[in-house]
Amino acid sequence: MKLIIAGLIACLSSVSSGQIGQIPSLEEHQGKILLHVDGKPFPMLGGQLMNSTSFSEDLTASAFSRLKAFHLNTAIAPVSWQAIEPVENEYDFSMVDRLVAQARNQELKLVLLWFGSWKNGRSGYVPGWVISDLDRFPRMERKNGVRLEVISNLSEEASQADAKAFAAFMKHLREIDGDENTVLMVQIENEMGLLGDSRNRSARANEVFAKPVPEKLMNYLSEHKDSLMPEMKELWQKAGAKTSGTWTEVFGEGLGADEIFMAWYYGRYVNRIALAGKAEHPIPHYVNAWTVNPDKPDPGKHPSGGPVARMMDVWKAAAPDIDLLAVDCYQNFKTKIVNFAREDNPLFIPEACALWRGDRWSAPQKAFYAIGEAQAIGFAPFGIDHEHYGKDHPIGVAYKALSQLMPLILEHYGQGRIRAFYKEGEETREEIKFEKYRCRIKYAAEVEHPYGLIIQTGEDQFIVAGNGAQVIFQSNLKNRQGVSVTEVEEGEIVDGQWRRLRLLAGDEVPGQGTQGVALPPLAYRLLHKRTNMSMQRLNLYLHPPRKDGKADAAQDQNAPKDGVFD
Ligand code: DGJ
Repeated sequence: MKLIIAGLIACLSSVSSGQIGQIPSLEEHQGKILLHVDGKPFPMLGGQLMNSTSFSEDLTASAFSRLKAFHLNTAIAPVSWQAIEPVENEYDFSMVDRLVAQARNQELKLVLLWFGSWKNGRSGYVPGWVISDLDRFPRMERKNGVRLEVISNLSEEASQADAKAFAAFMKHLREIDGDENTVLMVQIENEMGLLGDSRNRSARANEVFAKPVPEKLMNYLSEHKDSLMPEMKELWQKAGAKTSGTWTEVFGEGLGADEIFMAWYYGRYVNRIALAGKAEHPIPHYVNAWTVNPDKPDPGKHPSGGPVARMMDVWKAAAPDIDLLAVDCYQNFKTKIVNFAREDNPLFIPEACALWRGDRWSAPQKAFYAIGEAQAIGFAPFGIDHEHYGKDHPIGVAYKALSQLMPLILEHYGQGRIRAFYKEGEETREEIKFEKYRCRIKYAAEVEHPYGLIIQTGEDQFIVAGNGAQVIFQSNLKNRQGVSVTEVEEGEIVDGQWRRLRLLAGDEVPGQGTQGVALPPLAYRLLHKRTNMSMQRLNLYLHPPRKDGKADAAQDQNAPKDGVFD
Protein backbone atom coordinates (compact mmCIF):
# COMPACT_ATOMS: atom_id res chain seq x y z
CA MET A 1 0.00 0.00 0.00
CA LYS A 2 2.81 2.33 1.01
CA LEU A 3 4.46 1.63 -2.32
CA ILE A 4 1.33 2.44 -4.23
CA ILE A 5 0.88 5.67 -2.32
CA ALA A 6 4.54 6.49 -3.02
CA GLY A 7 3.83 5.81 -6.67
CA LEU A 8 0.82 8.08 -6.62
CA ILE A 9 2.77 10.86 -4.98
CA ALA A 10 5.46 10.33 -7.59
CA CYS A 11 2.91 10.63 -10.42
CA LEU A 12 1.25 13.68 -8.95
CA SER A 13 4.54 15.43 -8.41
CA SER A 14 5.62 14.75 -11.98
CA VAL A 15 2.33 16.07 -13.29
CA SER A 16 2.40 19.13 -11.07
CA SER A 17 5.94 19.99 -12.14
CA GLY A 18 4.93 19.69 -15.79
CA GLN A 19 7.14 16.74 -16.68
CA ILE A 20 6.31 14.84 -19.84
CA GLY A 21 7.37 11.38 -18.70
CA GLN A 22 6.05 9.87 -15.52
CA ILE A 23 8.90 9.57 -13.06
CA PRO A 24 10.08 6.04 -12.17
CA SER A 25 7.99 4.46 -9.44
CA LEU A 26 7.19 1.11 -7.89
CA GLU A 27 3.72 0.03 -8.86
CA GLU A 28 1.58 -3.01 -9.17
CA HIS A 29 1.60 -5.07 -12.33
CA GLN A 30 -0.76 -8.05 -12.33
CA GLY A 31 -0.57 -8.47 -8.57
CA LYS A 32 3.19 -7.93 -8.19
CA ILE A 33 5.22 -4.79 -7.65
CA LEU A 34 7.52 -3.80 -10.50
CA LEU A 35 9.53 -0.71 -11.30
CA HIS A 36 7.61 1.40 -13.81
CA VAL A 37 9.29 3.80 -16.20
CA ASP A 38 7.16 6.22 -18.22
CA GLY A 39 4.18 4.43 -16.72
CA LYS A 40 5.20 0.98 -18.01
CA PRO A 41 6.74 -2.00 -16.19
CA PHE A 42 10.50 -2.08 -16.63
CA PRO A 43 12.34 -5.11 -15.21
CA MET A 44 15.98 -4.12 -14.94
CA LEU A 45 18.47 -6.34 -16.76
CA GLY A 46 21.41 -4.74 -15.04
CA GLY A 47 25.08 -4.82 -14.37
CA GLN A 48 27.00 -3.01 -11.64
CA LEU A 49 30.27 -1.27 -12.45
CA MET A 50 33.33 -1.79 -10.30
CA ASN A 51 33.74 0.85 -7.63
CA SER A 52 36.03 3.32 -9.42
CA THR A 53 35.02 3.04 -13.08
CA SER A 54 32.34 5.72 -13.08
CA PHE A 55 34.87 8.27 -11.79
CA SER A 56 36.64 8.18 -15.18
CA GLU A 57 35.01 9.37 -18.40
CA ASP A 58 37.04 7.00 -20.58
CA LEU A 59 36.51 3.92 -18.45
CA THR A 60 32.79 4.66 -18.27
CA ALA A 61 32.52 5.14 -22.04
CA SER A 62 34.22 1.84 -22.73
CA ALA A 63 32.15 0.06 -20.04
CA PHE A 64 28.81 1.45 -21.27
CA SER A 65 29.47 0.49 -24.89
CA ARG A 66 30.23 -3.10 -23.83
CA LEU A 67 27.11 -3.21 -21.64
CA LYS A 68 24.94 -2.23 -24.55
CA ALA A 69 26.35 -5.17 -26.53
CA PHE A 70 25.29 -7.42 -23.64
CA HIS A 71 21.67 -6.24 -24.08
CA LEU A 72 21.65 -4.70 -20.61
CA ASN A 73 18.99 -2.08 -20.11
CA THR A 74 20.36 -0.59 -16.86
CA ALA A 75 23.83 0.23 -15.60
CA ILE A 76 24.39 0.60 -11.87
CA ALA A 77 27.13 3.07 -10.99
CA PRO A 78 28.41 4.92 -7.93
CA VAL A 79 28.63 8.63 -7.34
CA SER A 80 30.11 9.88 -4.07
CA TRP A 81 29.66 12.56 -1.44
CA GLN A 82 33.42 13.14 -1.67
CA ALA A 83 33.22 13.93 -5.41
CA ILE A 84 30.06 16.03 -5.18
CA GLU A 85 30.81 18.19 -2.14
CA PRO A 86 34.62 18.39 -1.99
CA VAL A 87 34.39 21.67 -0.08
CA GLU A 88 31.53 22.21 2.37
CA ASN A 89 28.54 23.83 0.64
CA GLU A 90 30.32 23.88 -2.73
CA TYR A 91 28.86 21.33 -5.07
CA ASP A 92 30.35 19.82 -8.18
CA PHE A 93 27.82 17.87 -10.23
CA SER A 94 30.03 17.35 -13.27
CA MET A 95 30.28 13.64 -12.57
CA VAL A 96 26.49 13.28 -12.44
CA ASP A 97 26.02 15.26 -15.66
CA ARG A 98 28.63 13.19 -17.43
CA LEU A 99 27.26 9.84 -16.28
CA VAL A 100 23.73 10.71 -17.32
CA ALA A 101 24.92 11.94 -20.74
CA GLN A 102 27.07 8.84 -21.25
CA ALA A 103 24.17 6.53 -20.37
CA ARG A 104 21.86 8.37 -22.76
CA ASN A 105 24.44 8.02 -25.54
CA GLN A 106 24.15 4.26 -25.22
CA GLU A 107 20.39 4.27 -24.52
CA LEU A 108 21.00 2.84 -21.10
CA LYS A 109 19.10 3.58 -17.91
CA LEU A 110 20.99 4.18 -14.68
CA VAL A 111 20.73 3.33 -11.02
CA LEU A 112 23.02 5.64 -9.08
CA LEU A 113 24.64 4.62 -5.81
CA TRP A 114 25.14 7.36 -3.24
CA PHE A 115 28.40 6.42 -1.55
CA GLY A 116 28.03 8.79 1.41
CA SER A 117 28.69 8.19 5.10
CA TRP A 118 29.33 4.46 4.63
CA LYS A 119 30.51 2.02 2.00
CA ASN A 120 31.03 -1.61 3.03
CA GLY A 121 30.83 -0.59 6.68
CA ARG A 122 33.60 2.01 6.43
CA SER A 123 33.60 5.75 5.73
CA GLY A 124 35.99 5.89 2.78
CA TYR A 125 33.79 8.06 0.54
CA VAL A 126 33.09 11.03 2.82
CA PRO A 127 34.70 14.38 1.86
CA GLY A 128 38.02 15.38 3.43
CA TRP A 129 36.31 18.13 5.46
CA VAL A 130 34.17 15.45 7.13
CA ILE A 131 36.81 12.81 7.80
CA SER A 132 39.21 15.36 9.25
CA ASP A 133 36.81 16.75 11.86
CA LEU A 134 36.59 14.21 14.67
CA ASP A 135 34.60 16.46 16.99
CA ARG A 136 31.92 17.38 14.53
CA PHE A 137 31.72 13.95 12.92
CA PRO A 138 32.44 11.40 15.65
CA ARG A 139 33.47 7.81 14.91
CA MET A 140 32.33 4.50 16.22
CA GLU A 141 34.44 2.55 18.69
CA ARG A 142 35.10 -1.12 19.15
CA LYS A 143 35.69 -2.85 22.50
CA ASN A 144 38.59 -1.32 24.47
CA GLY A 145 37.94 2.08 22.93
CA VAL A 146 39.54 1.35 19.55
CA ARG A 147 38.37 4.17 17.28
CA LEU A 148 37.24 3.12 13.82
CA GLU A 149 37.16 4.85 10.44
CA VAL A 150 33.38 4.68 10.64
CA ILE A 151 31.16 7.73 11.12
CA SER A 152 28.83 7.22 14.09
CA ASN A 153 25.25 6.44 13.17
CA LEU A 154 24.24 8.42 16.28
CA SER A 155 25.72 11.64 14.90
CA GLU A 156 23.03 14.24 14.21
CA GLU A 157 25.57 16.49 12.57
CA ALA A 158 26.78 13.76 10.18
CA SER A 159 23.31 12.63 9.15
CA GLN A 160 22.29 16.24 8.55
CA ALA A 161 25.38 16.94 6.45
CA ASP A 162 24.93 13.73 4.43
CA ALA A 163 21.22 14.47 3.93
CA LYS A 164 21.98 18.03 2.81
CA ALA A 165 24.49 16.89 0.19
CA PHE A 166 22.19 14.10 -0.97
CA ALA A 167 19.27 16.52 -1.30
CA ALA A 168 21.42 18.85 -3.41
CA PHE A 169 22.34 15.87 -5.62
CA MET A 170 18.70 14.81 -6.01
CA LYS A 171 17.62 18.37 -6.79
CA HIS A 172 20.24 18.52 -9.51
CA LEU A 173 19.09 15.15 -10.81
CA ARG A 174 15.53 16.40 -11.09
CA GLU A 175 16.74 19.46 -12.97
CA ILE A 176 18.73 17.48 -15.52
CA ASP A 177 16.66 14.30 -15.65
CA GLY A 178 13.14 15.10 -14.47
CA ASP A 179 11.85 14.82 -18.05
CA GLU A 180 13.96 12.03 -19.48
CA ASN A 181 14.09 9.65 -16.52
CA THR A 182 17.47 8.16 -17.32
CA VAL A 183 18.06 7.58 -13.61
CA LEU A 184 15.57 5.04 -12.33
CA MET A 185 16.44 4.59 -8.68
CA VAL A 186 19.02 5.68 -6.12
CA GLN A 187 20.74 3.62 -3.49
CA ILE A 188 21.61 5.36 -0.21
CA GLU A 189 25.02 4.35 1.21
CA ASN A 190 26.38 0.90 0.43
CA GLU A 191 26.36 -2.21 2.59
CA MET A 192 26.35 -0.17 5.79
CA GLY A 193 26.77 -1.67 9.25
CA LEU A 194 29.58 -2.07 11.77
CA LEU A 195 32.30 -4.65 11.11
CA GLY A 196 34.47 -6.10 13.84
CA ASP A 197 32.03 -5.70 16.73
CA SER A 198 28.32 -6.21 17.27
CA ARG A 199 27.75 -2.59 18.27
CA ASN A 200 29.34 0.80 18.71
CA ARG A 201 30.98 0.88 22.19
CA SER A 202 31.72 4.62 22.42
CA ALA A 203 30.68 6.36 25.65
CA ARG A 204 27.78 8.06 23.85
CA ALA A 205 26.63 4.76 22.29
CA ASN A 206 26.72 3.05 25.70
CA GLU A 207 24.58 5.85 27.09
CA VAL A 208 21.96 5.50 24.35
CA PHE A 209 22.05 1.70 24.61
CA ALA A 210 21.10 1.95 28.30
CA LYS A 211 17.96 3.93 27.43
CA PRO A 212 14.53 2.44 26.62
CA VAL A 213 13.84 1.07 23.15
CA PRO A 214 12.03 3.84 21.20
CA GLU A 215 8.25 3.56 21.32
CA LYS A 216 8.04 3.68 17.55
CA LEU A 217 9.95 0.40 17.25
CA MET A 218 7.95 -1.23 20.04
CA ASN A 219 4.68 -0.23 18.39
CA TYR A 220 5.82 -1.57 15.04
CA LEU A 221 6.74 -4.93 16.54
CA SER A 222 3.41 -5.21 18.38
CA GLU A 223 1.42 -4.23 15.29
CA HIS A 224 3.28 -6.68 13.06
CA LYS A 225 3.80 -9.46 15.58
CA ASP A 226 2.25 -12.13 13.34
CA SER A 227 4.33 -11.33 10.28
CA LEU A 228 7.77 -10.61 11.80
CA MET A 229 10.84 -12.28 10.32
CA PRO A 230 11.30 -15.59 12.19
CA GLU A 231 14.64 -14.67 13.85
CA MET A 232 13.18 -11.38 15.09
CA LYS A 233 10.07 -13.05 16.44
CA GLU A 234 12.08 -15.71 18.24
CA LEU A 235 14.48 -13.25 19.83
CA TRP A 236 11.71 -11.00 21.07
CA GLN A 237 9.56 -13.86 22.37
CA LYS A 238 12.51 -15.51 24.10
CA ALA A 239 13.08 -12.31 26.06
CA GLY A 240 9.39 -12.26 27.08
CA ALA A 241 7.80 -10.26 24.22
CA LYS A 242 7.92 -7.11 26.38
CA THR A 243 6.43 -3.95 24.95
CA SER A 244 8.83 -1.60 26.72
CA GLY A 245 12.21 -1.62 28.43
CA THR A 246 15.87 -1.14 27.61
CA TRP A 247 17.44 -2.85 24.58
CA THR A 248 18.66 -5.78 26.67
CA GLU A 249 15.40 -6.03 28.65
CA VAL A 250 13.37 -6.25 25.45
CA PHE A 251 15.75 -8.26 23.26
CA GLY A 252 17.88 -10.16 25.79
CA GLU A 253 21.54 -9.91 26.80
CA GLY A 254 22.98 -11.49 23.62
CA LEU A 255 24.36 -10.08 20.38
CA GLY A 256 20.81 -9.85 18.97
CA ALA A 257 20.05 -6.74 21.05
CA ASP A 258 23.24 -5.12 19.75
CA GLU A 259 22.34 -5.79 16.13
CA ILE A 260 18.80 -4.45 16.55
CA PHE A 261 20.12 -1.33 18.29
CA MET A 262 22.54 -0.71 15.43
CA ALA A 263 19.89 -1.39 12.78
CA TRP A 264 17.50 1.07 14.38
CA TYR A 265 20.02 3.91 14.37
CA TYR A 266 21.33 3.18 10.87
CA GLY A 267 17.71 3.13 9.73
CA ARG A 268 16.87 6.44 11.41
CA TYR A 269 20.01 8.08 9.98
CA VAL A 270 19.29 6.87 6.47
CA ASN A 271 15.60 7.71 6.62
CA ARG A 272 16.49 11.35 7.16
CA ILE A 273 18.60 11.19 3.99
CA ALA A 274 15.79 9.47 2.04
CA LEU A 275 13.26 12.08 3.16
CA ALA A 276 15.55 14.89 2.05
CA GLY A 277 16.16 13.23 -1.33
CA LYS A 278 12.54 12.38 -2.01
CA ALA A 279 11.46 15.93 -1.24
CA GLU A 280 13.53 16.91 -4.30
CA HIS A 281 13.04 13.98 -6.67
CA PRO A 282 10.84 11.11 -5.44
CA ILE A 283 12.14 8.22 -7.54
CA PRO A 284 12.54 4.95 -5.56
CA HIS A 285 15.23 5.09 -2.87
CA TYR A 286 16.70 1.86 -1.52
CA VAL A 287 19.47 0.41 0.64
CA ASN A 288 21.50 -2.76 0.09
CA ALA A 289 22.68 -5.53 2.39
CA TRP A 290 25.95 -7.39 2.88
CA THR A 291 24.13 -10.52 3.94
CA VAL A 292 24.64 -12.84 6.90
CA ASN A 293 27.13 -15.65 6.29
CA PRO A 294 25.29 -18.77 7.51
CA ASP A 295 28.60 -20.23 8.74
CA LYS A 296 29.46 -17.11 10.75
CA PRO A 297 26.13 -15.53 11.64
CA ASP A 298 27.27 -13.19 14.46
CA PRO A 299 26.74 -9.46 13.85
CA GLY A 300 30.12 -7.86 13.24
CA LYS A 301 31.14 -10.72 10.94
CA HIS A 302 28.71 -9.09 8.53
CA PRO A 303 28.13 -5.36 9.04
CA SER A 304 26.07 -5.20 12.24
CA GLY A 305 22.87 -3.20 11.86
CA GLY A 306 22.90 -3.35 8.06
CA PRO A 307 19.64 -4.10 6.22
CA VAL A 308 19.98 -7.91 6.32
CA ALA A 309 16.85 -10.06 6.10
CA ARG A 310 16.63 -10.74 9.82
CA MET A 311 16.68 -6.96 10.50
CA MET A 312 13.98 -6.29 7.90
CA ASP A 313 11.32 -5.41 10.50
CA VAL A 314 13.60 -3.03 12.37
CA TRP A 315 14.51 -1.33 9.10
CA LYS A 316 10.87 -1.08 8.01
CA ALA A 317 10.05 0.60 11.32
CA ALA A 318 13.08 2.89 11.37
CA ALA A 319 13.15 3.86 7.69
CA PRO A 320 9.61 3.96 6.28
CA ASP A 321 10.76 6.26 3.46
CA ILE A 322 13.13 3.64 2.08
CA ASP A 323 11.24 1.77 -0.64
CA LEU A 324 13.08 -1.49 -0.39
CA LEU A 325 15.95 -3.41 1.13
CA ALA A 326 17.98 -4.91 -1.71
CA VAL A 327 20.10 -8.03 -1.43
CA ASP A 328 23.71 -8.28 -2.59
CA CYS A 329 23.59 -12.01 -3.11
CA TYR A 330 26.92 -13.79 -3.39
CA GLN A 331 26.06 -17.20 -1.95
CA ASN A 332 23.09 -19.58 -1.61
CA PHE A 333 21.30 -17.54 -4.23
CA LYS A 334 18.02 -19.44 -4.45
CA THR A 335 17.36 -19.50 -0.72
CA LYS A 336 18.73 -16.08 0.19
CA ILE A 337 16.74 -14.02 -2.27
CA VAL A 338 13.47 -15.45 -0.96
CA ASN A 339 13.98 -13.68 2.39
CA PHE A 340 14.10 -10.32 0.65
CA ALA A 341 10.90 -10.85 -1.34
CA ARG A 342 7.94 -9.73 0.74
CA GLU A 343 4.76 -7.95 -0.11
CA ASP A 344 6.25 -4.80 1.43
CA ASN A 345 9.69 -5.42 -0.10
CA PRO A 346 9.99 -5.98 -3.84
CA LEU A 347 13.02 -8.12 -4.63
CA PHE A 348 16.02 -6.32 -6.14
CA ILE A 349 19.46 -7.89 -6.55
CA PRO A 350 21.91 -5.08 -7.44
CA GLU A 351 24.97 -7.28 -6.85
CA ALA A 352 25.61 -10.97 -7.54
CA CYS A 353 28.33 -13.36 -8.77
CA ALA A 354 31.53 -12.99 -6.71
CA LEU A 355 34.24 -12.89 -9.38
CA TRP A 356 36.81 -12.64 -6.60
CA ARG A 357 35.71 -16.05 -5.33
CA GLY A 358 35.77 -17.63 -8.78
CA ASP A 359 32.04 -17.30 -9.47
CA ARG A 360 32.54 -16.35 -13.10
CA TRP A 361 29.85 -17.91 -15.21
CA SER A 362 26.68 -18.04 -13.13
CA ALA A 363 25.23 -14.65 -14.14
CA PRO A 364 22.99 -16.02 -16.95
CA GLN A 365 21.31 -18.63 -14.76
CA LYS A 366 20.82 -16.19 -11.89
CA ALA A 367 19.40 -13.56 -14.25
CA PHE A 368 16.87 -16.04 -15.63
CA TYR A 369 15.96 -17.23 -12.16
CA ALA A 370 15.71 -13.76 -10.62
CA ILE A 371 13.44 -12.40 -13.34
CA GLY A 372 11.54 -15.58 -14.26
CA GLU A 373 11.13 -17.44 -10.99
CA ALA A 374 11.58 -14.90 -8.20
CA GLN A 375 9.95 -12.02 -10.07
CA ALA A 376 12.64 -9.58 -9.07
CA ILE A 377 12.36 -5.97 -10.18
CA GLY A 378 15.96 -6.20 -11.34
CA PHE A 379 19.18 -8.17 -11.30
CA ALA A 380 22.83 -7.21 -11.78
CA PRO A 381 26.12 -9.08 -11.69
CA PHE A 382 28.77 -7.03 -9.88
CA GLY A 383 31.87 -5.93 -11.79
CA ILE A 384 30.19 -6.21 -15.20
CA ASP A 385 32.90 -3.95 -16.64
CA HIS A 386 35.66 -6.30 -15.49
CA GLU A 387 37.58 -7.75 -18.43
CA HIS A 388 36.32 -11.17 -17.43
CA TYR A 389 32.97 -10.11 -18.86
CA GLY A 390 34.41 -10.14 -22.37
CA LYS A 391 32.26 -10.26 -25.49
CA ASP A 392 32.00 -14.07 -25.27
CA HIS A 393 30.57 -14.07 -21.77
CA PRO A 394 27.18 -15.83 -21.82
CA ILE A 395 25.43 -12.98 -19.98
CA GLY A 396 25.05 -11.41 -23.45
CA VAL A 397 22.96 -14.25 -24.90
CA ALA A 398 20.99 -14.59 -21.66
CA TYR A 399 20.04 -10.89 -21.55
CA LYS A 400 19.28 -10.95 -25.28
CA ALA A 401 16.86 -13.84 -24.73
CA LEU A 402 15.29 -12.15 -21.70
CA SER A 403 14.85 -8.91 -23.67
CA GLN A 404 13.09 -10.81 -26.44
CA LEU A 405 10.93 -12.68 -23.94
CA MET A 406 10.08 -9.60 -21.88
CA PRO A 407 6.75 -8.75 -23.56
CA LEU A 408 5.61 -12.33 -22.92
CA ILE A 409 6.96 -12.30 -19.39
CA LEU A 410 5.00 -9.14 -18.65
CA GLU A 411 1.86 -10.49 -20.33
CA HIS A 412 1.88 -13.68 -18.24
CA TYR A 413 3.33 -12.08 -15.09
CA GLY A 414 2.19 -13.04 -11.60
CA GLN A 415 -0.15 -15.84 -12.68
CA GLY A 416 2.00 -18.92 -12.07
CA ARG A 417 2.68 -19.29 -15.79
CA ILE A 418 6.38 -18.40 -15.71
CA ARG A 419 8.96 -20.63 -14.07
CA ALA A 420 12.74 -20.78 -14.21
CA PHE A 421 15.28 -23.38 -13.20
CA TYR A 422 19.00 -23.82 -12.81
CA LYS A 423 21.40 -26.23 -11.23
CA GLU A 424 22.76 -24.82 -7.97
CA GLY A 425 24.22 -27.90 -6.30
CA GLU A 426 24.62 -31.56 -7.11
CA GLU A 427 21.08 -32.09 -8.37
CA THR A 428 20.78 -33.63 -11.83
CA ARG A 429 17.02 -33.30 -12.22
CA GLU A 430 14.11 -31.30 -10.94
CA GLU A 431 10.41 -31.03 -11.52
CA ILE A 432 8.23 -28.00 -12.18
CA LYS A 433 4.44 -28.23 -12.11
CA PHE A 434 1.90 -26.23 -14.07
CA GLU A 435 -1.81 -26.88 -13.75
CA LYS A 436 -2.23 -29.55 -16.44
CA TYR A 437 1.40 -30.39 -17.15
CA ARG A 438 4.54 -31.12 -15.21
CA CYS A 439 8.03 -30.61 -16.59
CA ARG A 440 10.81 -33.00 -15.74
CA ILE A 441 14.08 -31.15 -16.11
CA LYS A 442 17.25 -33.09 -16.69
CA TYR A 443 20.51 -31.18 -16.58
CA ALA A 444 23.19 -32.01 -19.15
CA ALA A 445 26.16 -33.40 -17.26
CA GLU A 446 28.65 -31.74 -19.61
CA VAL A 447 27.31 -28.19 -19.05
CA GLU A 448 28.69 -26.42 -15.99
CA HIS A 449 25.87 -23.93 -15.48
CA PRO A 450 22.63 -25.20 -17.06
CA TYR A 451 19.53 -23.04 -16.82
CA GLY A 452 16.25 -22.19 -18.46
CA LEU A 453 12.86 -20.52 -18.36
CA ILE A 454 9.41 -21.86 -19.21
CA ILE A 455 6.46 -19.65 -20.09
CA GLN A 456 3.03 -21.12 -20.51
CA THR A 457 1.73 -19.05 -23.41
CA GLY A 458 -1.50 -20.98 -23.97
CA GLU A 459 -3.47 -23.77 -22.38
CA ASP A 460 -1.35 -26.38 -24.20
CA GLN A 461 1.50 -24.21 -25.42
CA PHE A 462 4.86 -23.38 -23.84
CA ILE A 463 7.92 -21.37 -24.79
CA VAL A 464 11.15 -22.67 -23.27
CA ALA A 465 14.53 -20.95 -23.43
CA GLY A 466 17.92 -21.76 -21.98
CA ASN A 467 21.04 -23.88 -22.20
CA GLY A 468 22.10 -27.31 -20.97
CA ALA A 469 18.85 -29.05 -20.09
CA GLN A 470 16.11 -31.26 -21.42
CA VAL A 471 12.56 -30.41 -20.47
CA ILE A 472 10.20 -33.38 -20.73
CA PHE A 473 6.49 -32.56 -20.57
CA GLN A 474 4.16 -34.97 -18.83
CA SER A 475 0.61 -34.82 -17.63
CA ASN A 476 -0.12 -33.48 -14.18
CA LEU A 477 -3.66 -34.90 -14.18
CA LYS A 478 -4.20 -38.33 -12.64
CA ASN A 479 -6.97 -39.44 -15.01
CA ARG A 480 -5.37 -38.14 -18.22
CA GLN A 481 -1.84 -39.41 -18.41
CA GLY A 482 -1.30 -39.43 -22.17
CA VAL A 483 0.51 -36.43 -23.69
CA SER A 484 1.47 -35.93 -27.34
CA VAL A 485 3.85 -33.29 -28.61
CA THR A 486 2.12 -31.87 -31.65
CA GLU A 487 4.90 -29.50 -32.75
CA VAL A 488 8.28 -28.18 -31.64
CA GLU A 489 9.77 -25.11 -33.29
CA GLU A 490 12.97 -23.25 -32.63
CA GLY A 491 12.63 -19.53 -33.05
CA GLU A 492 13.01 -16.01 -31.75
CA ILE A 493 10.74 -13.22 -30.66
CA VAL A 494 10.58 -10.10 -32.74
CA ASP A 495 8.54 -7.18 -31.39
CA GLY A 496 6.78 -9.53 -29.02
CA GLN A 497 5.78 -11.95 -31.82
CA TRP A 498 7.06 -15.51 -32.16
CA ARG A 499 9.04 -16.10 -35.36
CA ARG A 500 9.83 -19.65 -36.41
CA LEU A 501 13.39 -20.40 -37.49
CA ARG A 502 12.88 -24.12 -38.03
CA LEU A 503 10.68 -27.04 -37.08
CA LEU A 504 12.43 -29.52 -34.81
CA ALA A 505 12.03 -33.28 -34.62
CA GLY A 506 14.20 -36.40 -34.81
CA ASP A 507 17.63 -36.45 -33.20
CA GLU A 508 17.43 -32.85 -32.04
CA VAL A 509 14.47 -33.44 -29.74
CA PRO A 510 14.08 -35.90 -26.83
CA GLY A 511 12.25 -39.12 -27.78
CA GLN A 512 12.59 -38.18 -31.48
CA GLY A 513 10.02 -35.45 -31.00
CA THR A 514 7.60 -37.13 -28.62
CA GLN A 515 8.64 -35.82 -25.21
CA GLY A 516 9.64 -32.19 -25.00
CA VAL A 517 12.62 -30.00 -25.80
CA ALA A 518 16.39 -30.09 -25.55
CA LEU A 519 18.26 -26.85 -24.92
CA PRO A 520 20.08 -26.41 -27.21
CA PRO A 521 18.81 -28.92 -29.76
CA LEU A 522 22.19 -30.52 -30.35
CA ALA A 523 22.19 -34.06 -31.66
CA TYR A 524 24.85 -36.30 -30.08
CA ARG A 525 25.43 -33.76 -27.29
CA LEU A 526 28.74 -32.58 -28.69
CA LEU A 527 30.08 -29.04 -28.73
CA HIS A 528 28.16 -27.69 -25.77
CA LYS A 529 29.18 -24.10 -25.14
CA ARG A 530 28.34 -21.66 -22.37
CA THR A 531 27.07 -19.25 -24.98
CA ASN A 532 24.54 -21.63 -26.49
CA MET A 533 20.99 -20.42 -26.18
CA SER A 534 17.89 -21.85 -27.73
CA MET A 535 14.31 -20.66 -27.65
CA GLN A 536 11.67 -23.21 -28.54
CA ARG A 537 7.90 -23.29 -28.67
CA LEU A 538 5.98 -26.48 -28.28
CA ASN A 539 2.34 -27.40 -28.57
CA LEU A 540 0.92 -30.34 -26.67
CA TYR A 541 -2.14 -32.51 -26.85
CA LEU A 542 -3.45 -33.95 -23.59
CA HIS A 543 -5.26 -37.21 -24.27
CA PRO A 544 -8.79 -37.72 -23.00
CA PRO A 545 -9.12 -40.08 -20.03
CA ARG A 546 -8.40 -43.74 -20.92
CA LYS A 547 -11.03 -46.15 -19.78
CA ASP A 548 -8.93 -49.33 -19.76
CA GLY A 549 -6.37 -47.86 -17.28
CA LYS A 550 -3.38 -48.94 -19.39
CA ALA A 551 -0.25 -46.80 -19.80
CA ASP A 552 0.48 -44.44 -22.69
CA ALA A 553 3.74 -44.71 -24.61
CA ALA A 554 5.04 -41.25 -23.74
CA GLN A 555 4.75 -42.10 -20.05
CA ASP A 556 6.41 -45.47 -20.42
CA GLN A 557 9.59 -45.24 -18.37
CA ASN A 558 10.77 -48.58 -19.81
CA ALA A 559 10.82 -47.42 -23.42
CA PRO A 560 14.14 -48.28 -25.10
CA LYS A 561 16.69 -45.45 -24.99
CA ASP A 562 17.61 -44.11 -28.40
CA GLY A 563 21.14 -43.14 -27.46
CA VAL A 564 20.79 -39.53 -28.53
CA PHE A 565 19.58 -37.88 -25.37
CA ASP A 566 19.49 -40.56 -22.69
C1 DGJ B 1 30.27 -5.62 -2.24
C2 DGJ B 1 30.23 -4.12 -2.37
O1 DGJ B 1 28.93 -3.65 -2.24
C3 DGJ B 1 30.83 -3.68 -3.68
O2 DGJ B 1 30.83 -2.28 -3.77
C4 DGJ B 1 32.24 -4.24 -3.81
O3 DGJ B 1 33.05 -3.69 -2.82
C5 DGJ B 1 32.18 -5.76 -3.69
N1 DGJ B 1 31.59 -6.14 -2.45
C6 DGJ B 1 33.55 -6.41 -3.75
O4 DGJ B 1 34.25 -6.07 -4.91
